[in-house]
Amino acid sequence: FHQYTAKNEPVLEYRRNSNELKQVQKVLDEYKSKVTRVPCIIDGKEFWTEDIQKQVLPFDHKHVLAEYCYADKSLLEKAIERAVKNQPKWDLMPIEQRANIFLKAADLASDLKWRSHLVATTMLGQGKTVFQAEIDAACELIDFWRFNVQHLASAMTYQPISTGDSDNNYQYRGLEGFVAAISPFNFTAIGGHLASAPALMGNTVLWKPSDTATLSNYIVYKILEEAGLPPGIIQFVPSKGVDFGKTITQSPDLAAITFTGSTTTFKTLWKWVAENLDNYRTFPRLIGECGGKNFHLIHPSADLTTVINGTIRSAFEYSGQKCSACSRVYLPRSLSNKFYSQMQNIIKNELRIDTPLKFDTFTSAVIDRNSFNRIRTSIDFARTSPATKIIVGGEYDDSVGFYVKPTLIETTDPKNKLMREEIFGPVVTIYVYDDQKFDETVDLVNDTTNYALTGSIFCQDKTILEKTRERLIHTAGNLYLNDKSTGSVVNQQPFGGARLSGTNDKAGGPHYLLRFTSPLTVKNMK
Ligand code: ALA
Repeated sequence: FHQYTAKNEPVLEYRRNSNELKQVQKVLDEYKSKVTRVPCIIDGKEFWTEDIQKQVLPFDHKHVLAEYCYADKSLLEKAIERAVKNQPKWDLMPIEQRANIFLKAADLASDLKWRSHLVATTMLGQGKTVFQAEIDAACELIDFWRFNVQHLASAMTYQPISTGDSDNNYQYRGLEGFVAAISPFNFTAIGGHLASAPALMGNTVLWKPSDTATLSNYIVYKILEEAGLPPGIIQFVPSKGVDFGKTITQSPDLAAITFTGSTTTFKTLWKWVAENLDNYRTFPRLIGECGGKNFHLIHPSADLTTVINGTIRSAFEYSGQKCSACSRVYLPRSLSNKFYSQMQNIIKNELRIDTPLKFDTFTSAVIDRNSFNRIRTSIDFARTSPATKIIVGGEYDDSVGFYVKPTLIETTDPKNKLMREEIFGPVVTIYVYDDQKFDETVDLVNDTTNYALTGSIFCQDKTILEKTRERLIHTAGNLYLNDKSTGSVVNQQPFGGARLSGTNDKAGGPHYLLRFTSPLTVKNMK
């Protein structure tokens, strides 16, 4: 166990006529032909309330994929009570045994049998193409499970000094109480990670999946169950955000919240924790990965092909709904004509925007009506405001699915709200600067928003690249040099944002797990 080293899961290619594609196709057909019922699960037992919800296909919103129910306050309280009761025993289980459950889950998810379910439910429920579903629901999830075990093993190599008369011992105990995991729709792997990382460390968890990722997250739960996760360690409790947030923050046993979602919601959780501060038995840990306004900063020396490919992929893959997606571009005037003509050509002629069930689709619909409306409002603003104009795209249509075309907007105002506010859709805003004003532009990149999630600098002049990097050390949690701002891989680019993009605990890195431990130092006299 102490020697365990993980490897990144190889990405399957899903070529025409490949086994993996046939298997995914079969599973897609199964899920399309039925409505899957997803229960709440507490202490390993299934529960239903009368508050039935439906998960639909984002690209065909009349089609119901799954039915699930919201846990109400009393069911959430029951889940808390069970989690708190189950924690001490789980905490005392030898760490190697706990770790083996997650390694087993990774092996199960790696096998085509479960992998095809993860990929298919992520494609259907969250509207991802097969490739995007594979790198998320299969590879990233598996990587989180394996690398977390490696990180835990390496953290545990620390031991304090023992002396002639005492043995000193440092134990990685879980947190007393329960951990609340609130996960987003955009990565199935993040859901699995938020629920599993605390559990690995000896905590018990209430997991609230995102409404629009309920089915794929339930598959993750089923894999953990098959891998031997005992009942009552993770409680799977889909619920209304406000009910879940209020109930957990009002419990004296809240030990931590691990959250991925909007900055606004994360701030609300902090406020609710503050309101209840006198009632807690411990200081709750708050771990958050929130919004972003991720930049591509392009220097006149940049290689244009790298810039174009990177910007298309970062801004428009999965319709700009990765938290890391590029949404503001700083473009030198000398490159702007070529940039626009090549981007227009690709967007108009090469990107297929369609159902993800056609395997050559580049990207599909956005997740739901709220998202669609929010993105539409930004596009309409760009159309009517004097400081902005739409260069390409700008069309949207929700008659069948929540479709928004990849959209490029240009603004003459570098502090325009489209350069500051997160849109979370396939919309990128461009500010063209005069080549000789690169220095001032670096200040703009730094000063325009309070987000600091990801960003990229494209520059072939090594001296300028290095100087610019040094000026942007607090402007992103993940900074990319001559590459797009998306696509972090577990333990290659540990992921997380600074400033108001989150607490920057870096999923997939060595520090994340330590947020979920309350170490016990034991001095034992010889
Ligand atoms: N880890 C995801 C990415 O980097 C969010 O795109």
